[in-house]
Amino acid sequence: MTDSAIKMSGLRVRFRDRGREVEALAGVDLEVRAGEVFGFIGPNGAGKTTAMMVLLGFVEPSAGSATVFGEDVRRRIARERIGYLAERAEAYPFLTGRELLDTAGRLFGLRGAALRERVDGLLERLGLAGAADRRIATYSRGMLQRAGLAQALVNDPDLLILDEPTGGMDPLGRVEVRGIIADLRRRGKTVFFSSHELSEIELVCDRIAIISRGAILSGGETRALVARAASLEKYFLELLGADSPGGGGR
Ligand SMILES: Nc1ncnc2c1ncn2[C@@H]1O[C@H](COP(=O)(O)OP(=O)(O)O)[C@@H](O)[C@H]1O
Ligand SMILES: [Mg+2]
Repeated sequence: MTDSAIKMSGLRVRFRDRGREVEALAGVDLEVRAGEVFGFIGPNGAGKTTAMMVLLGFVEPSAGSATVFGEDVRRRIARERIGYLAERAEAYPFLTGRELLDTAGRLFGLRGAALRERVDGLLERLGLAGAADRRIATYSRGMLQRAGLAQALVNDPDLLILDEPTGGMDPLGRVEVRGIIADLRRRGKTVFFSSHELSEIELVCDRIAIISRGAILSGGETRALVARAASLEKYFLELLGADSPGGGGR
């Protein structure tokens, strides 16, 4: 048996982009334990989304392997315990919030009273009960993100993979998402989320890994890393500065 929620071993992904080879992941080793909130930090283009795509079975690794709760990600069963919030949550603007969750629940085979109960519960928990019957087109950015989170939770997953869940949100929205993540941890869920907003990672993550150019530069307990530098931001900038002396991102 294993208490690891995610395990990546020597994970490599190569993309071909207009004839050019891009190594999005260059041999990533990473383990996320069941029940922890894990922050996956790195600048744009570092490989965060690619790693998540591998976990979801959308991208085939060119070398190495990945498991979710001990199951190889190439097996369908590995995906059944995952809830996923995409970087750009493609919502359906013509649906109401309730219809969105209803549709998502049906995809997971929920029907009748069980479906209604799940949908009502999520609308309540994510503060969308009052807006449930409004079209998503009228939602604010924060509400959209909460609807996306509700959708990711509809199958009651054990592992939440959230790709930049606070991207583009105002401070109030970010506080809300932090609260939701804290609530998920209390319920014993594992949360693996990416961000480049360090201040909040510092507040919510048990452990983190820092990725740049497809490789893990550093990782460990958030508290220990923060203690090493004045803040996570300082530590991050020092690391990345050492990684790219030219200072030019990509
Ligand atoms: N489908 C794709 N085809 C070609 N290159 C890609 C593709 N997806 C991502 N990449 C490249 O892989 C690298 C990692 O991208 P990504 O995983 O999206 O980074 P992040 O999520 O950390 O911003 C980038 O150089 C990006 O341009
Ligand atoms: Mg990304």
